[in-house]
Amino acid sequence: MRRNWIQQLGSILLYLPLIAIVLMVAAYPILFFVVDGKVGILQRKPDELLLNPVWKLFFYLHISFGGLALLIGWVQFNVWIRRRWVYLHRRIGKLYVFSVWLSALGVLGIAVSAEGGYIAFLGFVTVTVVWFYTTTKGYSTARKQQIEAHRRWMIYSYAACTGAVTLRLWLPLLIKVTHDFEWSYQMVAWISWVPNVLVARYLVQRKCKRNASPHNL
Ligand code: HEM
Repeated sequence: MRRNWIQQLGSILLYLPLIAIVLMVAAYPILFFVVDGKVGILQRKPDELLLNPVWKLFFYLHISFGGLALLIGWVQFNVWIRRRWVYLHRRIGKLYVFSVWLSALGVLGIAVSAEGGYIAFLGFVTVTVVWFYTTTKGYSTARKQQIEAHRRWMIYSYAACTGAVTLRLWLPLLIKVTHDFEWSYQMVAWISWVPNVLVARYLVQRKCKRNASPHNL
């Protein structure tokens, strides 16, 4: 029991830098509520758009619930927490699914006026469909007690969600290399999430192979 606890603490410490980056990006939407004036991407938007109540609704829906999904999602992968507090896992899980649905709905309302034209639009819409679909499958498999499938879908779902983190790592790098914001934004609408989904696929397949290994029979 004691060893188990120490192992869990060790794995949290190992992932600490990653968790710290995720938490920083998850907290970023708060700036949009507390800072008086234009923040982040809003600096590039025309005043008519910023005054449009429908756009504003979708934008704030997207960033608030996206931030929440990112903030709580990673906790669900901790085996120790999951086994000890199944009830908490279910509660957080439902909140995560609800947040993803609302945040994804928000993207659909703001993607048309996103920077980067139709290439970026297609990238954002594609990952939104992936995010929504994998999360909904993750939820429905959990309801049916198909735990292995639930775990796999949720790995894909959070990989799509962390696109918000990798976007903010890739974008300054691309701008620095290309000195071209428009082109960098078009690229980042794709490379912020495709590698994440590929890493998720690798993790899912590795776990499947491990489960199929004769040592586990
Ligand atoms: C698959 C998931 C996501 C997609 C497709 C997506 C897409 C978008 C789009 C299209 C915009 C508007 C960009 C523009 O107007 O040029 C945006 C802005 C934003 N999103 Fe997301 N997003 C996703 C997940 C998240 C998450 C999880 C968060 C949580 C922190 C988040 C936080 C924000 C913020 C803070 C902005 C304002 C832009 C800025 O200043 O950086 N997004 N997102």
